[in-house]
Amino acid sequence: MIKKLIVYLREFRRDAVLAPLLIVLEVICELLLPLLMARIIDVGINGGGGMPYIWKAGAGMLALSFLSMYCGVAAARHAAYASQGFGRNLRSALFRQVQRFSFAGIDRFSTASLITRITNDVSMLQNTVAMSLRILIRAPMQLLTALAVCLFMNARLTLILAVALPVLALSAGLLMKKVRPLFKVFQEKIDGLNAAVQENLISVRVVKAYVRQEHEKEKFDRANKGLLRAGLNAVMRVIAIMPIMMLILNGVVLAVFWFGGRQVAAGTMLTGELYSFYMYIAQVLMSTLMVAMVFLQLTRAVACATRILEVLEAEPDIRDGAKTPAELPASQGRVEFRNVTFRYKEGTGDDVLNSISFTVEPGQFVGLIGATGTGKSTLVNLIPRFYDVTGGAVLVDGMDVRDYPIRELRERIGMVLQKNVLFTGTVRENLLWGNKDATEEEMVRAAKTPRPTISSWPCRRATTPCWTRGA
Ligand SMILES: Nc1ncnc2c1ncn2[C@@H]1O[C@H](COP(=O)(O)OP(=O)(O)OP(=O)(O)O)[C@@H](O)[C@H]1O
Ligand SMILES: [Mg+2]
Repeated sequence: MIKKLIVYLREFRRDAVLAPLLIVLEVICELLLPLLMARIIDVGINGGGGMPYIWKAGAGMLALSFLSMYCGVAAARHAAYASQGFGRNLRSALFRQVQRFSFAGIDRFSTASLITRITNDVSMLQNTVAMSLRILIRAPMQLLTALAVCLFMNARLTLILAVALPVLALSAGLLMKKVRPLFKVFQEKIDGLNAAVQENLISVRVVKAYVRQEHEKEKFDRANKGLLRAGLNAVMRVIAIMPIMMLILNGVVLAVFWFGGRQVAAGTMLTGELYSFYMYIAQVLMSTLMVAMVFLQLTRAVACATRILEVLEAEPDIRDGAKTPAELPASQGRVEFRNVTFRYKEGTGDDVLNSISFTVEPGQFVGLIGATGTGKSTLVNLIPRFYDVTGGAVLVDGMDVRDYPIRELRERIGMVLQKNVLFTGTVRENLLWGNKDATEEEMVRAAKTPRPTISSWPCRRATTPCWTRGA
């Protein structure tokens, strides 16, 4: 999974490498600070080193603090570049993939879910990358180095961790196992909420005309409550584990001072040593908690990554035909349905079209009349291959539509849709959307042309009459 996603980070590999490197430097600085502190106490104050020593060590601490701060900020900047860039690349890969989908592909995921995946799921992964670049390197490194220093300073006192760390790790592991499926449900609930909003907004006229706002509100509330419940369900599990973690943390601090204090009293340990030992133990514990948190975030990110890869790896079910432009028949505008059968879900459901055969000659007008839901739009959608037939064949100018390169096929077909869409922008921009090379004169003509029409708009090369007025 990581291998498949990391390619989107490639463009920003310099930042992705620099961020963790700077973090390593930052951790080293933080590691040295308590050592200097201990020297100030043991040599400067208790050992007779006096003010000159304290000044010297203090200046060292100040320099280290600045260096650590600089590294921290620079690492955050590089991590931000890398993660934001990763997000942008992933989003555009998803968008490009969705453009390749047939209608059936979009039906399969649902528009709402695709939107959630392109926006919410990608943002989630993006944040995870930012966090991973910083904390995923920082926390384990801090954990190991601080642990090593503890062992070096006082192996006996470090034994306290031998009890605490496994308990901490075990409870974090258990938590993650419990929470992972809950996060998956959470993402699905976001899909549900998006679907409710999207449906409502698309059909807002119908909703208002039939005064169904209350009904729609209830539908939205249900989805919203579902999302709340799913979110709380996951978060509450995380919160439930917190007291256990705090108990362990405080227990360790208590044990360090209890046993350490006795060693100081017995003269086998210096006060400054005990102080810096405590600082290192705190680093170990904090970084263990950080690792747990990162893994928790990763658990959620896995749910999002799976959903994103599902889209990226979906094979577009409608592919270009094998014929080259030279092999295509001359564009005349003949459409033939040869014993066409179609159903939306292969394997299940009923045939929407069954053994349909007819030919429309160039220049001929054909009207399809039928009650709602009889398959008029479905039939028309088969000509530009928005869907592929389940049986039989659709031919344009004598050639099976599945043999055409899709672009060639669709450029031969002019379509005036039942419901027109205006994109954001001016009327001129909308007209140019159909044909970016249109002249002023052509635009005026297209704007004046009443529908239905055998439209050469938006595709100038189109010759096949194909419209779905009232269909
Ligand atoms: N994307 C889809 N997935 C599954 N079934 C669908 C889909 N689109 C349409 N159908 C079903 O296919 C059948 C034919 O629908 P179609 O939209 O082609 O009818 P129509 O004749 O165009 O109706 P209308 O006059 O209302 O536009 C209907 O039963 C409809 O529910
Ligand atoms: Mg229709």
